[in-house]
Amino acid sequence: MNHTILITGGAGFIGSHLTRLFVTKYPEYKIVILDDLTYAGNLENLKDIENNSNYTFIKGDITNAELIKKIFEEFKFTAVLHCAAESHVDRSISEPLAFVTTNVVGTVILLQAAKENWKHDTTNKLFYHISTDEVYGSLGAEGYFTEDTSYDPRSPYSASKASSDHFVRAFYHTYKLPVIISNCSNNYGPFHFPEKLIPLCINNILNEQPLPLYGKGENIRDWLFVEDHVKAIDVIFHKGKTGETYNIGGHNEWTNIAIIKELCRQMDIKMGKDKGTSEKLITFVKDRAGHDMRYAIDATKLKNELGWKPSLQFEEGLSKTIDWYLDNTEWLQHVTSGNYRKYYETQYHKR
Ligand code: NAD
Ligand code: DAU
Repeated sequence: MNHTILITGGAGFIGSHLTRLFVTKYPEYKIVILDDLTYAGNLENLKDIENNSNYTFIKGDITNAELIKKIFEEFKFTAVLHCAAESHVDRSISEPLAFVTTNVVGTVILLQAAKENWKHDTTNKLFYHISTDEVYGSLGAEGYFTEDTSYDPRSPYSASKASSDHFVRAFYHTYKLPVIISNCSNNYGPFHFPEKLIPLCINNILNEQPLPLYGKGENIRDWLFVEDHVKAIDVIFHKGKTGETYNIGGHNEWTNIAIIKELCRQMDIKMGKDKGTSEKLITFVKDRAGHDMRYAIDATKLKNELGWKPSLQFEEGLSKTIDWYLDNTEWLQHVTSGNYRKYYETQYHKR
């Protein structure tokens, strides 16, 4: 089965890994990226594949209904892999409306375009919505999120993602739009923007700056290497059942303090520093408002029905991630200085 796929948010963290996987693994597919290159979008994340003949980049906003209509007509997409979003919880606390606009309105605009363009024939069509475990709320010490867990979002970010998930399901039930949703736990790996815990701490260790841990550092997240996440999306895209939801997770729970201590331990060794040097940078700071205590995914459905499981142990994935940041200090320097935003002008000035 051949495809022309629209990947939204392809210049972001997960979107760029997903694009790389699909562009290289499926040369027969045509992959079109739509990304507005917000602060989180970085074309340097896609440099190694930008000359592939099955790859097209379009700079644009998913909330621009005219543009979406135009590109659906031009490319006749058979599938959408919808990654574009405002993704950072702390930003959602200070700017909730931006999350409603992109995550809710943007998703509905894409759904409308897919519905309109596929109304006469939904064969070999799929709207795949990439979502998060945060829609399920916060766990206590026990239990896991399954696909049947009730939604209980508690931050403006998770409320906007939950709302977009509801719209995706509404389009399935109301208009029979072929959709799939996956809800994944915390990702980590190369190209992760250094506002998120792990890359922020890597950058701060490199610059001997404090490592800010919210509250007591006891909140728990379930970490998955980003390449494992996109491999799961690949499996679900090709083998998943329309109308279904799949949870994706690493079965890999860590408190924030434990993860940062492990990061410090590995970085001291890799940077030839005395044991305990980086740990001294840990600083406890004011807690995040409404900070969810624990996330933990039960990914049994995905394993039993589609045969996916994570390939990497966490310590190994973290080591690969640190090595990538140590080998790509220029990427980090461009991101932290803001220079990455000039790349579009130099690379795409002709468009
Ligand atoms: P990211 O912030 O790194 O990237 C988001 C991308 O979307 C950027 O390239 C940005 O430029 C683009 N974008 C934002 N607003 C846009 C708009 N209006 N129009 C077009 N493009 C726009 O995010 P990420 O961490 O890669 O997350 C991708 C998706 O995966 C999101 O939907 C997020 O909710 C979900 N998710 C993320 C994680 C995680 O741990 N990072 C886990 C589970 C699910
Ligand atoms: O669970 C999936 C979600 O994971 C995704 O949907 C989000 O897009 C993604 O950003 C991530 O959300 P988190 O809020 O869990 O990630 P973050 O890296 O911001 O924070 C991880 C944990 O570390 C969380 O408990 C808050 C804490 N933290 C974070 C930062 C940035 C700190 O203690 N200090 C910090 O400076």
